Amino acid sequence: MQDKPTNLPTTQPGGEPLKPFTEVVVERRATNRFTPDEVPEESLNAILRLGLQAPSGYNLQPWRFIVVRDEANRARLQAAAYNQAKVGQAPVVVIAVGMKEEWKRTADEVFREGAERGAGSLDTVEQYKQGALGFLSHMPMDVWVNRHTMIAFTTLMYAAEAYGFDTAPMEGFDAAAVKREFGLPDEAEVVALLAIGRAEPPDKAYPGRFPLERVVYSERYGEAWQSNDEG
Ligand SMILES: Cc1cc2nc3c(=O)[nH]c(=O)nc-3n(C[C@H](O)[C@H](O)[C@H](O)COP(=O)(O)O)c2cc1C
Repeated sequence: MQDKPTNLPTTQPGGEPLKPFTEVVVERRATNRFTPDEVPEESLNAILRLGLQAPSGYNLQPWRFIVVRDEANRARLQAAAYNQAKVGQAPVVVIAVGMKEEWKRTADEVFREGAERGAGSLDTVEQYKQGALGFLSHMPMDVWVNRHTMIAFTTLMYAAEAYGFDTAPMEGFDAAAVKREFGLPDEAEVVALLAIGRAEPPDKAYPGRFPLERVVYSERYGEAWQSNDEG
């Protein structure tokens, strides 16, 4: 496995500072129309590297990403995504995939290397692995890979926004068609698509969110969280 990424670009491609996290979260919109402007290779690699720093259960990292930039391939992906125009427009579309079996073959490497790096004990690696396999044997794998892949996917999405790009997450696709068109094996679960590029004006309106008091509870379900600030 690799060490933490170093030398990530600390500015947007034009030299402006990266967007602060609060702005990234609040100002991000699911973009409906993209310009053909490219995402520079350096930014794209930084976005991908940041995405891969996401946490996952037992650090098993069951996610895989297919970066689709070729125009003909984007057209094929658009066809598999109920013809959503943004798939063909955006210069980059990432197919996020969760692998339901592959982690069983890489668990040993993950646990051993974690222990060697000091995040665990070498003496108990085998015990730890058996515990993980036992726990995960009760887990529906489609749910489990979705859970983890979406964290990496979301990290990618926010990283792209921090570098000044616009994004569109998508669940509207025919998973069987995506698997067929992009050579994915049976065990692959197609989780989501992420278009990355530059939004074509006008900006999409903010559709609003439920207030805190309605969806956050204090201590037990149904006891509304009382926030004293107006935020
Ligand atoms: C996992 C996920 C899947 C989505 N799938 C689609 C999609 O297939 N097509 C689409 O136009 N928008 C899709 N959206 C965008 C949502 O409609 C949008 O995020 C939501 O309306 C809130 O708007 P906002 O992101 O601009 O705040 C998806 C969003 C998420 C998080």
